[in-house]
Amino acid sequence: MADYKIGVIPGDGIGQEVTAHARNVLEVAGGRFGVSFEFREGMAGGTAYDAAGDPFPSETQELCADSDACLFGAVGGPQWDALPREKRPEAAILGLRQKFGLFANLRPAAMFEPLVDASTLKAEAVRGLDLLVVREGVGGIYFGEPRITEQVNPDEERAVDTMVYSTSEIRRIVRVGFEMASVRRKKLLSVDKENVLETSRLWRRVAGEVARDFPDIEVSHMYVDNAAMQLIRDPLQFDVIVTGNMFGDILSDAASMLTGSIGMLASANLNEAGFGVFEPVHGTAPDIAGQDKANPIAAIMSAAMLCRYALKRAGMADAIEAAVSKALDGGLRTPDIHTNGTTLVGCAAMGERVAELVGG
Ligand code: IPM
Ligand code: MG
Repeated sequence: MADYKIGVIPGDGIGQEVTAHARNVLEVAGGRFGVSFEFREGMAGGTAYDAAGDPFPSETQELCADSDACLFGAVGGPQWDALPREKRPEAAILGLRQKFGLFANLRPAAMFEPLVDASTLKAEAVRGLDLLVVREGVGGIYFGEPRITEQVNPDEERAVDTMVYSTSEIRRIVRVGFEMASVRRKKLLSVDKENVLETSRLWRRVAGEVARDFPDIEVSHMYVDNAAMQLIRDPLQFDVIVTGNMFGDILSDAASMLTGSIGMLASANLNEAGFGVFEPVHGTAPDIAGQDKANPIAAIMSAAMLCRYALKRAGMADAIEAAVSKALDGGLRTPDIHTNGTTLVGCAAMGERVAELVGG
């Protein structure tokens, strides 16, 4: 029997290509560290809708429930945009987070030195960047009720989403933020919109209460609009940023771009039992899907997070991250991070090179 059962859910678009490399890198890392994996694939997203009429089929849900951790690719695409919300590809990842209580969404954004010139910001603004967005994943406006669209009169429709947070939901995610800060540079920023929103007033109060349990962490609070601006003005000021679901969605995309490309950013979705789904932050990129142009690094770095957080095998995670770093040091670049004087390669060549380097 294998040491670990890993669910593999490539999804749509470039999710297919990048996830294959993440899986391969895990396998190679396992070989080097004497760890065996049983990989089982499941369908999700638009691909699953086309095949089975359901973006998050019960077989995929069962596969996840019976796995130690899952690798997820990406879901979505313009051909499925007109479907009702519960049939849209996004229902797969949202359903996964909800079904398994994956409340802690960790999204690190760290700069690889050879990529400082690939960022759209000046090198001195991003050199040494190393921040972590801790995003709440199963609450807030993404899941609040009611959520409806109704006909008010023949000419007018009205749509409602509900932003809701309770003390316990805030407390557990803020706590994760503090725990992460404890093993990093001991700085935590809590982001809210306390000047306007009730949920944010509660958020800030609860964050302040949790702070008392972590006296050695330097805590501050910021409004989300200011945080967005500060991320672009001076991103080096940040260590850990903890925030709600929608603010975290937005800020993590912004943070990813500081590193040169959203194609670099990995993430973990964890629950209280330590089960996790690991996925690149990027989407399906339908414009480049199937053309060997995608950057597999975000997916590969997600596999590293899987080793670190789900399997508690930091050595394997370090080896995968070091291999990515080495591939970049060697000058290999996918189109999204390509700059003058470096070697342009496709998804396959990048993925294979990292795997080779992981093998040692
Ligand atoms: C993300 C994505 C998802 C989200 C979408 C695909 C539903 O943007 O993981 O950041 O909004 O959470
Ligand atoms: Mg997003």
